[in-house]
Amino acid sequence: MRENESVQRNYVYTHFTEAILYLRPFMKSPARISAVFVFLLFGAFVCTRLINFPTLVDTSQGSVVTTGASQKHPSETPNIPKSPPPKLEIPLNCTAYNHTRTCPSNYPTTFSPEQDPDSPSPPPTCPEYFRWIYEDLRPWALTGITKDMVQSAKRTANFKLVILNGKAYLEKYQRSFQTRDVFTLWGILQLLRRYPGKVPDLELMFDCVDWPVILSRFYSQPNSTAPPPLFRYCGDDRTLDIVFPDWSFWGWSEINIKPWELLLNDLEEGNNRSKWIDREPYAYWKGNPFVAETRKDLLKCNVSEQTDWNARVYAQDWIKESREGYKQSDLASQCIHRYKIYIEGSAWSVSEKYILACDSVTLIVKPRYYDFFTRGLIPVHHYWPIKDDDKCRSIKFAVDWGNSHKKKAQSIGKEASKMIQKDLKMDYVYDYMFHLLSEYSKLLQFKPTIPRKAVELCSEAMVCQAQGLEKKFMMDSMVKGPAESNPCAMPPPYDPASLFALLRRQANSIKQVETWERSYWENQRKQS
Ligand SMILES: *[C@@H]1O[C@H](CO)[C@@H](O)[C@H](O)[C@H]1NC(C)=O
Ligand SMILES: *[C@@H]1O[C@H](CO)[C@@H](O)[C@H](O)[C@H]1NC(C)=O
Ligand SMILES: *[C@@H]1O[C@H](CO)[C@@H](O)[C@H](O)[C@H]1NC(C)=O
Ligand SMILES: *[C@@H]1O[C@H](CO)[C@@H](O)[C@H](O)[C@H]1NC(C)=O
Ligand SMILES: *[C@@H]1O[C@H](CO)[C@@H](O)[C@H](O)[C@H]1NC(C)=O
Repeated sequence: MRENESVQRNYVYTHFTEAILYLRPFMKSPARISAVFVFLLFGAFVCTRLINFPTLVDTSQGSVVTTGASQKHPSETPNIPKSPPPKLEIPLNCTAYNHTRTCPSNYPTTFSPEQDPDSPSPPPTCPEYFRWIYEDLRPWALTGITKDMVQSAKRTANFKLVILNGKAYLEKYQRSFQTRDVFTLWGILQLLRRYPGKVPDLELMFDCVDWPVILSRFYSQPNSTAPPPLFRYCGDDRTLDIVFPDWSFWGWSEINIKPWELLLNDLEEGNNRSKWIDREPYAYWKGNPFVAETRKDLLKCNVSEQTDWNARVYAQDWIKESREGYKQSDLASQCIHRYKIYIEGSAWSVSEKYILACDSVTLIVKPRYYDFFTRGLIPVHHYWPIKDDDKCRSIKFAVDWGNSHKKKAQSIGKEASKMIQKDLKMDYVYDYMFHLLSEYSKLLQFKPTIPRKAVELCSEAMVCQAQGLEKKFMMDSMVKGPAESNPCAMPPPYDPASLFALLRRQANSIKQVETWERSYWENQRKQS
């Protein structure tokens, strides 16, 4: 197991001490939830489409995707639609790119997937966690987003991205840690290949650092300015940063984590290798303990001669593993314990999806941060909650409970891996990006323009010059051509009552576990 933060330890302390100091002193400020409710009460049904821009591409015309090489319009051959049309591929020609050093101008610009006219099936509804897109954008529901607001997010941004007529333009401000920005941009370019002409015009600021920085308390007064809209990989209850899928979905070359689509298959194979019941009946964790106090605290729960808290925890030796090609940290072969612990490091950790994908029971130590999909997790259904201020006893109870409720424990493990395999497959990661960017762009009150210092970005510009694993992961995660179907359909926003019900359900499940845990320790005390 590896964490985004573990390898960056040195970097963190040399480059981000400012960020750490900046975040630490904040007291528990009014939770995000209360802000959410204020917005819900006052802004729930206000039309967010403040200004209508002409739709770029009218996909209702039934035109097929057209590439520079001419494609036949289907209406020209109306009577032979029975054999499926050849799958369209968008070429990637590095010889041509190297020669001209300009992005190709013949990318397809419209997208209209073939529909079987006999059984037109509406696209499936997106997974439930997509509904958080509306919550993340709610701070701007009433005001919309002005150019000044976008500009005000520049303070910490690594880059500004502009999408105009289906093309991407990049203005870079500061280097990010490792290749986070590279693979994030690569991912957005693949989205453009997947849905040509469908991603609307927009301008956004992106910050690749771990910690969210847009503190809601600065923007919660009636007369305060609207918050800067800033995209990043995670958020928490005190901040208003907009969460976006992290770079690792396209690969993390520095530590040899391959693109998610391939890894997901390996992880399923890993699950298939051993039955839950045959796995070690303990809770396993491996990672870098030195990035956070709470992780050092977890080490105290390791088995010793005196006590067995049912935990088996290991410190990751990154230097050794990097020398040995990460053989010891092959994610797919880490599914050999019945329970696996997830604990945050310096912020959220990309390891969460790898841990949940294993059909062992995930024990989640009370997290502070969320990423784009984790708000859909239901305690006791998808995972088992662990207290952060009493970890060892909490883990001991969780494992004892699971070993004596084997059926339920197995189903928790299965539900989580099913959710990851199904709701977090790469198609949905792209659809999440698509819907988030589309909803975001609806809020913009200005016509995006190409910044003077921006460069056009295309897959060729990135991959033709890339080397080694970086290049391999890009090629492996490249979208070959337009999707064969439309994006999933957005579910409606939460109304205040259903959002409240969801949060209450999550809180109650955690309380329930705490009650069981208390009586378990009561009984243990009486027996001794
Ligand atoms: C294009 O140029 C890069 C160096 O800039 C080189 O590594 C790559 O092999 C070239 N690709 C082709 C197909 O010529
Ligand atoms: C790539 O571009 C070069 C130069 O424009 C051209 O000669 C070659 O046929 C192209 N290759 C493919 C596979 O399209
Ligand atoms: C907001 O308004 C209140 C009362 O009118 C005032 O005291 C406060 O300073 C204002 N805050 C800002 C940030 O302008
Ligand atoms: C894992 O096992 C299931 C059920 O036996 C099977 O359907 C699936 O194809 C297997 N997956 C992999 C990646 O081996
Ligand atoms: C935890 O205990 C196991 C078994 O004794 C040991 O191999 C491992 O190194 C310990 N972990 C740490 C972080 O000390």
